[in-house]
Amino acid sequence: MSWHHELNQTYGGACLIKGIMGDEHLYVSDPKALHQICVKDQDIFEETSMFVQGNSVIFGDGLLSTIGDVHKRQRKILNPVFSTGHMRDVTPILYDVVGKLVGLMKSQTKTGPAKMDMLDLMMRTALEGIGQGGLGHSYKALEAGDGNSAFRVALRSLIPTIFSLQIERQILPFILAIGTPEFRGKLVDLVPSKRLHRLRDIVNEMYITNLNVFEHKKRALKEGDEKVLQQVGQGRDIVSVLLKGMEEADEEDRLTDAEVLAQLTTLVFTSHDTTSSTLAHFLHLLAVHPKIQDRLRKEIKDAKDAWERDHTKGDRDLGYDELNELPFLENVCRETLRLHAPVTFMSRTARAPSVLPLTTPMTGTDGKLITEVPVRENQNVHIGIAAANRHPAYWGPDAAEWIPDRWANGIPKLAQEAKLPSIYAGTMSFLGGGRACIGYRFATIEIKIIITMLLDNFKFSLSKDEIVWKLANIQMPWVEGQEAQGPSMPLTVEQL
Ligand code: HEM
Repeated sequence: MSWHHELNQTYGGACLIKGIMGDEHLYVSDPKALHQICVKDQDIFEETSMFVQGNSVIFGDGLLSTIGDVHKRQRKILNPVFSTGHMRDVTPILYDVVGKLVGLMKSQTKTGPAKMDMLDLMMRTALEGIGQGGLGHSYKALEAGDGNSAFRVALRSLIPTIFSLQIERQILPFILAIGTPEFRGKLVDLVPSKRLHRLRDIVNEMYITNLNVFEHKKRALKEGDEKVLQQVGQGRDIVSVLLKGMEEADEEDRLTDAEVLAQLTTLVFTSHDTTSSTLAHFLHLLAVHPKIQDRLRKEIKDAKDAWERDHTKGDRDLGYDELNELPFLENVCRETLRLHAPVTFMSRTARAPSVLPLTTPMTGTDGKLITEVPVRENQNVHIGIAAANRHPAYWGPDAAEWIPDRWANGIPKLAQEAKLPSIYAGTMSFLGGGRACIGYRFATIEIKIIITMLLDNFKFSLSKDEIVWKLANIQMPWVEGQEAQGPSMPLTVEQL
């Protein structure tokens, strides 16, 4: 992690780094340059070919695998589905999901405080949240037991398996470039690599599960089978809204069945690790800072008590708007997402030459002042999300510290002036521009529902295990000395 911060503190807002093939990449954290990449010249700075091709094989042609006009057409029909109005409808579905989590945790803390892997529980909740709220389907991830369905195992292993590829990385681009998907599948079978075959099996598992979800939903919608539609998601989940919306959309705007199916797996993937990483960080920080935990719990309990008085006894589920009106909860969310953005950087390839202006000019190795940086066609450019989110010039000298009250009067002045490309609180956590996170409202309301329900019912403290955070594409917590067991975050949980 510190590598990202050292880069921009040592070399300024744009610096060259050498790729493994000796090629020169540009690492950027300067606001004007980032704005040019993400917003002004977003058609030039597209996702890298490797990212697009790899995602196309893993998810199909969804938002993460398309560029240019195809991506714009997909966003056009998907954007409204993530509107505030629809997020209000999804809120009760998410409360049902989190109710299951609370039930599970209560059963495990009945006889006293218990050590629990909160990362695992957050992953199970994030999967069930996007399952029910996004796809109108239950992956049964919060059933009693370990919740380890074949789908969940596949999803958890996806990123580690991609990262485990070695020589296969060199072969893959050639395989991906030829023939039909069936032909490419046969070629993969022929390559003698257990890692590649594991990746193939993971992709197949996710594809077949979500194909069944999609076919089931489509049939129910076509036949007007309200019983099926009401079972999970109550017909208000993202995919049901999308399918209904498409019936009214212009012919040329509609997505093909393959494109809709690709969005399903894309949504599950994009929401799972990001949301659970943020929630794990959130809970870890509350355990490290018990006074902030108590202060936040008080705000939540006061609001829930008032809500219960105005509604029926036992109803403590604050609505979408009421959750967003809790000031300290909002500030803790902003600060956690600023300091610990789960996606620390994203990469782009310049599809044409460009020039990046700089907010802060730099001095070159020849002593000359640099006010703009030229970018060559096909040069890879890295968007330093974490670096920009913690830069002292935009967040003050205490930028590296977790201080929720820095948001007490809204977005801090320095950050307002910096104008990073952003859709969330002036930070880059969800990026900005045409490829910014489409699910940020879903993510933030889900985080708030989980945190409010957990703090209403439990107290969190550190266990004896030392937690270290590592960058594994998305930030993940590990127990020091137990790395072989994979990411986890045990905390002591006490029922209130
Ligand atoms: C704290 C949680 C989350 C964070 C920090 C986050 C962050 C991001 C970032 C940085 C990107 C840009 C990736 C790129 O440049 O290719 C992105 C894209 C995306 N996110 Fe999220 N995300 C979160 C949760 C979610 C959730 C819950 C959903 C779905 C409900 C979602 C759906 C997507 C999709 C579909 C894209 C691709 C958008 C496009 O290329 O048009 N994300 N997210």
